[in-house]
Amino acid sequence: MTPAVRLLLGWYRKHGRTLPWRDTTRRDGTPDAYRIFVSELMLQQTQVARVIPKYDEWIKHFPSWKRLAEASTPDLLHAWAGLGYNRRALQMRESAREVVANGEPTDENGWRRLKGVGPYMAAALAEFANHKRALVIDTNVRRVAGRVFLGIPYPNPTTDTRLLRALDRNIPDTGRHWDIPQAFMDLGSSICTPRLPQCTVCPLRTVCKAAPLFLSGRAGVKPRAKNTETRHRNKKYPDRIYRGRILAHIRAHGSTKIERLGPFIDEAYDAKRDIEWVRRMVDRMIKDQFIVEGKKGIVSLPKN
Ligand code: ADE
Repeated sequence: MTPAVRLLLGWYRKHGRTLPWRDTTRRDGTPDAYRIFVSELMLQQTQVARVIPKYDEWIKHFPSWKRLAEASTPDLLHAWAGLGYNRRALQMRESAREVVANGEPTDENGWRRLKGVGPYMAAALAEFANHKRALVIDTNVRRVAGRVFLGIPYPNPTTDTRLLRALDRNIPDTGRHWDIPQAFMDLGSSICTPRLPQCTVCPLRTVCKAAPLFLSGRAGVKPRAKNTETRHRNKKYPDRIYRGRILAHIRAHGSTKIERLGPFIDEAYDAKRDIEWVRRMVDRMIKDQFIVEGKKGIVSLPKN
């Protein structure tokens, strides 16, 4: 094992998150691929904290491939509500029907054949469900591993070829290699965060190629993406303007419920058509560490 991976796994054993889809062991001792499939699909578009209750509820309603395959569309959409992109719920049922008909895939190529399963999902399922070695790269793994192994402060998808090579050199094919991507994800959600990594408390600071750049201030601030501004429906301004208003409102009021924000940021706010839009902007601001979400959908400024 390379020093970086040894340090990472040591940290993960102590500080890794306990998440409901990480221990799905069935009676025969193998992971429950169905549950992992559900979790990965939900996690593609929604943050961990919001996925947990939705996931628990979903598993109660649809505990197996078979039950999902037989689910009615209204039941599906009801259970999916709040996760966005309803098409995904229907795609998931398609996958479940395929699995019921043809059996559960046992490797990356097998997963890839299911409709709606991309390269990331296929690799994640091979590792987490089949315990077969695969290179799992989501945005968190890309950022953390790109910093540690390649020394790139803000890695983007164009670095993936180099990243695949670095991960290939670092991920052993023995031991609990499926813990490695999840450890990267946890480090990425707590210490190696997008805008301002906390290198001084990072378990990998002695081996990370980007830590010296951050610690000495040479890494600079994350460059803004080129003009690909998102604009909702026929709104007057790009989302960036409304995010600015959200932040201003929270600054002025200390905290607020997400559902209440709409009318304060947009005079043409329409609760029915716009609540998901506000939710998406809030999610991005949380991800960017501008604000934090507490209990009952109340958002406020971060404490530190
Ligand atoms: N995002 C995608 N998969 C995840 C997992 N297994 N744990 C935490 N975050 C994730």
